[in-house]
Amino acid sequence: MYKIKNMKKNDFNPRFRWGAATSSFQIEGNIDADGKLESIWDRFCKIPGKIKDIEHVEAACDHYNLWKEDFDLLENLGVNSYRFSISWPRVVQSDLKQANQKGIEYYDKIVDDLLSRNIDPFVTLNHWDIPQKFQDKGGWVERESIKYFLDYVDIITNKLGDRVKNWITHNEPWIIAYLGYNEGTHAPGFKSLQKTLAVNHHLLLSHGLSVPIIRENSKNSQVGIALNLTPAYPASSSQADLEAAKLFDEQFNAWYLDPLYGKKYPKNIIECWKDRGELKNNFDFIHDDDFKVIAEPTDFLGVNYYSRAIIRCPKTDMHKNLPIEIVPGEKTKFDWEVFPEGLEKLLLRLKKDYSPENIYITENGASYDYNIQEMGKINDTKRIEYLESHINACKIAVEKGVPLRGYFCWSLMDNFEWAEGLNHRFGLVHVDFDTQKRIPKHSYKWYQQFLKNEINI
Ligand code: FCB
Repeated sequence: MYKIKNMKKNDFNPRFRWGAATSSFQIEGNIDADGKLESIWDRFCKIPGKIKDIEHVEAACDHYNLWKEDFDLLENLGVNSYRFSISWPRVVQSDLKQANQKGIEYYDKIVDDLLSRNIDPFVTLNHWDIPQKFQDKGGWVERESIKYFLDYVDIITNKLGDRVKNWITHNEPWIIAYLGYNEGTHAPGFKSLQKTLAVNHHLLLSHGLSVPIIRENSKNSQVGIALNLTPAYPASSSQADLEAAKLFDEQFNAWYLDPLYGKKYPKNIIECWKDRGELKNNFDFIHDDDFKVIAEPTDFLGVNYYSRAIIRCPKTDMHKNLPIEIVPGEKTKFDWEVFPEGLEKLLLRLKKDYSPENIYITENGASYDYNIQEMGKINDTKRIEYLESHINACKIAVEKGVPLRGYFCWSLMDNFEWAEGLNHRFGLVHVDFDTQKRIPKHSYKWYQQFLKNEINI
């Protein structure tokens, strides 16, 4: 039987981090308050058809104004840690070099407030909402532009580094590069494989270059990166499916993990990109010394886990999009299979292949529709089952020796789900986007009780 019976919160190490996560663009709203610059997501949202259901998107959760109320909910939840991100366009001026004091003050006070509630901030520096000005200068496509990111990192870590002791450089470079530059479904909305590969490389390079800056400005802090990792399972035991699953793993997981942990890009994947004519063997953006920079040692690996992928080898051109099979069984609203065993397997694989010193689950959660019942009660049983089973998977992995140090539920509250608009509700807290009223769901109460060590799962 997969599940551990009667597991309680106190079965985890007392120093284990329990948290919830959000990101700036998804909750803050107030897109031009206090000198904030335009972000690529502000602009992308204005392009007709890019975002499903655009109503209320600009306001998001109005967390920029309602942050105290939200932190009351966070504190009552009983977490000891909170992951949020800084909006780069809020904290710099249009030259991208000088600080925007008002934006800085906002994060300054929320950090102080969190600490006064004994909640440790885990701060993401890039959760996708980069300044449009940076994009106009070439953004992640251009190696030269990395310096602007480093200036921003210097400004913000200098200011908050005395109190923030946990830093995440980038959130999910695969999503940034692949959805933003290949599929065009995320900002800035390009469709170019050449750009995708360069962006990916420059994200990793900028990660490596920013680590020493963070360490200098924030003494004794822990630095890492958050990757969206999806274990690949072959659809059958045929050789072709095994190979296809391996290729998917390289495109999705090892493309990041290998260079971050001292190897180069997986060989197969380079061959695969080369096969695709449009690149004309142009890999000039990769310089040999870059791999040393990318592999700059970090303190932890952040893992965002939602589901697995089942891969069947296509009849033709295995190097284009590998078909992911949709399996029967429990799925979330996104059609993502609920598969906690995949999290355990992934964690064991990370330990075996890459030996990170520490791992955090920096995101895990599910979107489900539900009916609001009488008196504002929201019975989101399926979310509770999802969280229970994944926390269980964490415990099993810890018992097998994985250095897992914390778990952050995505998300504290319903928020702007990128191209999906406000259509997907991942929150422990329901947000009524007409009134900005917050209503804790049953899952909130469940997590709260679990954190008080009052329930077994
Ligand atoms: C992840 C993102 C996060 C949220 C969840 C559902 O890919 O990091 O911002 O949208 O998915």
